[in-house]
Amino acid sequence: MHTNQSYKNVNGFHMFYREQGSGVPVILIHGFPLTGDIWKSQIEVLSSKARVIAPDLRGFGKSEVTDGTYFMELFAHDLKILLDELGIEKAVLAGISMGGYIAFAFHKLFPSSVRALILLDTKPGADSEQGKKGRFDLAQKARSGKMEQIADEWAGRLFAPSTTKTRPDVVRTVRDAIFHTSPEAIANASLGMMERQDSTPLLREISCPVLIMTGDHDRIAPVEEAQAMAAGIKGSRVEVIENAGHLTCLEAPEQVNSLLLDFLSRV
Ligand code: MLT
Repeated sequence: MHTNQSYKNVNGFHMFYREQGSGVPVILIHGFPLTGDIWKSQIEVLSSKARVIAPDLRGFGKSEVTDGTYFMELFAHDLKILLDELGIEKAVLAGISMGGYIAFAFHKLFPSSVRALILLDTKPGADSEQGKKGRFDLAQKARSGKMEQIADEWAGRLFAPSTTKTRPDVVRTVRDAIFHTSPEAIANASLGMMERQDSTPLLREISCPVLIMTGDHDRIAPVEEAQAMAAGIKGSRVEVIENAGHLTCLEAPEQVNSLLLDFLSRV
């Protein structure tokens, strides 16, 4: 099946998105500092059962770069407008890492538009003081053009050791994608994450079906945090993906896809 690629004018910028399949709408929200390309395998597989939409968030990939801090709520508004433009009232939101932070913001703002949530390699809490400083420093580093360093550091922390060893092509593709990301988008989104709200109080209000998964080697959203998050959301549990780091959708696509298909068959 062919993936359609198109743009919509959304919230004052051109948003690029991929779309394939028909049925229940599923929005795949990528992480930082990546693009919707990370979902290639999920688009292929899930589109046999669902209408899959994978945008590039503002500033990333083929979407236009805009000025100002990219608050999680801003990304959420962008996605809501994209859904409206596509005639979708209610969707399954699947967010990985920063995509999960955005899914929480979306649920807070537009709960009736959420049919189900899929939370991959993410966590509900806000940044610690040290974490905030790291975000600020990253924004400065991006603005001073240190993209080689940023790409190497980020690619170095995203993957499980076995991925690094056996799938250097995946690591290289992600590293190159980060290197080619707009420094301004990296700075704006980093400052947006720095400012993000604690979504922990939201957890007990979530009543839609929720699937949580995380890699056993995820150092950014570790298994314990995913388990604490599941404990806070009624009826949810964590699927731990073995030999995967922070990018489960790329590192363990078969396992992730089969969990997603099973979940979607039940929502
Ligand atoms: C991501 O993958 O989106 C980022 O690692 C999220 C973060 O830095 O908190």
